[in-house]
Amino acid sequence: MFELLEKINERPAPFEFYTASELWTDEHTSRQMLAYHLNGDVDLSSRNSSFIKESVRWIVSRFKVGENTKIADFGCGPGLYALELARKKAGVTGIDFSNSSIQYARNSTSKRGLSITYVQQNYLNFETDERFDLIIMIMCDFCALSPDQRKGLLRKFYSMLAPGGSVLLDVYSLKASK
Ligand SMILES: C[S@@+](CC[C@H](N)C(=O)[O-])C[C@H]1O[C@@H](n2cnc3c(N)ncnc32)[C@H](O)[C@@H]1O
Repeated sequence: MFELLEKINERPAPFEFYTASELWTDEHTSRQMLAYHLNGDVDLSSRNSSFIKESVRWIVSRFKVGENTKIADFGCGPGLYALELARKKAGVTGIDFSNSSIQYARNSTSKRGLSITYVQQNYLNFETDERFDLIIMIMCDFCALSPDQRKGLLRKFYSMLAPGGSVLLDVYSLKASK
């Protein structure tokens, strides 16, 4: 019995289990996550609205986002960034496996008369022949991936970049925690 309890309480090795799907696609949890995404006052599923506004302004200026810019937003959630970038006339593809978020993103995009391609899929398996000037992955998703998954995803990003394209990752860093 004691051995069984010890086994149950064993800590898994770092990245031994990938549980992102349970967190983001379960019907109940994903509805709560969507509510947090849309609460502009908190930094939970997405960052707060003024931070997003400021970041979009920076992204647009840093990467010269405009009419001919093709952007892939990995883990786009309800499209808070995708929508703002589409307003700048960029061609945006958002990839996310949360049904609640993708449904919300599609509705809010069409309500605003904008056009964004949303793909409901695990981004680790996403493939396309399109090439992007900018690939973004925002709110620390990269940190949730194992070293092997990161390597695979960076390879994927590299293969999907247009010549001279850029990848923007928003990650935790030792510096940021000081
Ligand atoms: C922390 S949220 C950030 C959402 C968005 N980038 C933002 O900042 O508003 C992470 C998003 O990535 C999605 N996600 C996490 N892992 C994923 C995976 N393997 N494939 C597709 N989507 C994933 C989640 O559903 C969630 O919408």
